[in-house]
Amino acid sequence: MKILVTGGVGYIGSHTCCELLANNYEVVIIDNLSNSSIDVVAKIEKITGKKVTFYEGDVCKKEILSKIFKQEKIDAVIHFAGYKAVGESVEKPLMYYRNNIDSTLSLLEVMKEYNCKKIVFSSSATVYGNPETLPITEDFPLHTTNPYGTTKLMIEQILADLYKADNNWSIAILRYFNPIGAHKSGIIGENPNGIPNNLMPYIVKVATKELKELNIFGNDYNTKDGTGIRDYIHVIDLAQGHIKAIEKITKEKGIDTYNLGTGNGYSVLDLVNTFKMVNHVDIPYKIVERRKGDIAICYASTKKAEKLLNWTAKLTLEDMCRDSYNYAIKNRKDK
Ligand code: WQD
Repeated sequence: MKILVTGGVGYIGSHTCCELLANNYEVVIIDNLSNSSIDVVAKIEKITGKKVTFYEGDVCKKEILSKIFKQEKIDAVIHFAGYKAVGESVEKPLMYYRNNIDSTLSLLEVMKEYNCKKIVFSSSATVYGNPETLPITEDFPLHTTNPYGTTKLMIEQILADLYKADNNWSIAILRYFNPIGAHKSGIIGENPNGIPNNLMPYIVKVATKELKELNIFGNDYNTKDGTGIRDYIHVIDLAQGHIKAIEKITKEKGIDTYNLGTGNGYSVLDLVNTFKMVNHVDIPYKIVERRKGDIAICYASTKKAEKLLNWTAKLTLEDMCRDSYNYAIKNRKDK
């Protein structure tokens, strides 16, 4: 089976391509390289020993999509491509709506034209907003507080309406919690440009002394140690969840939504202390003001994915910390 992976050179996309190839799928990638670099294609091939077909291009442009569907017999699509920085989306909403919605509409129109009606969509736990209770199940109320999250919610609605109009589609919507970690080889990993917004890449830059200290955004939340709690999931577990979703949409028509998390909540200090213990490094930090828009606690119920996708996360917080640091050390700029 041949899978088109949009945004396949990005952090989660590249790890998913490795898992697809390891499971004997053929992989075609389209990526505009706006948040990743072309050398990741060769890294995916090095890790797996298999070839990848790569098209540089913008998923908003139907011409390149038609060219791909004309030249490649695409059986299913995994749609990662999209802007994903929460803070940036607040400053540049039109850029986020234009890019994330346009790319999805172009993709779905071309898929329909070529009668390819199997898609896995990369959504986010951010669609739950601030949950009333925990753990979060897929039927929880949906509420977004930033344009990035709203684009995810809108795309989920587009997919639901598409299935209502034509139930020949097979659609899996995956809501990611907090993906961190890297491939064991240290060849691919998370490589945000500039100052990272997210916790793990920031910790890694402090560990490698690229940044002086971690700012912990508030320790006055109603949690065990006052710092924010999240459901961190290893990017390899997340990638394997996509394989299960592809298997599901290959077997049956329909549309469904799945949380991809571990079901465990860890605080900022849990992550800092685990990272220090596992990697024998210091992580200087200081407590600062809460970050606007942050919620106190968020973690998943994973029962539905266990039952319907036959998938559970297996890797631990220690694995996530070890693999993130291993990748950073192996890819240090000043090496
Ligand atoms: C985690 C915890 C912060 C940085 C975001 C997006 C979400 C998804 C994952 C795309 C929080 C604290 C962080 C720092 C800190 N992305 N923190 N100092 O905010 O849970 O989720 O990324 O789908 O959509 O919203 O992740 O890693 O930014 O924060 O103290 O320098 O770490 O307050 O408690 P978040 P995060």
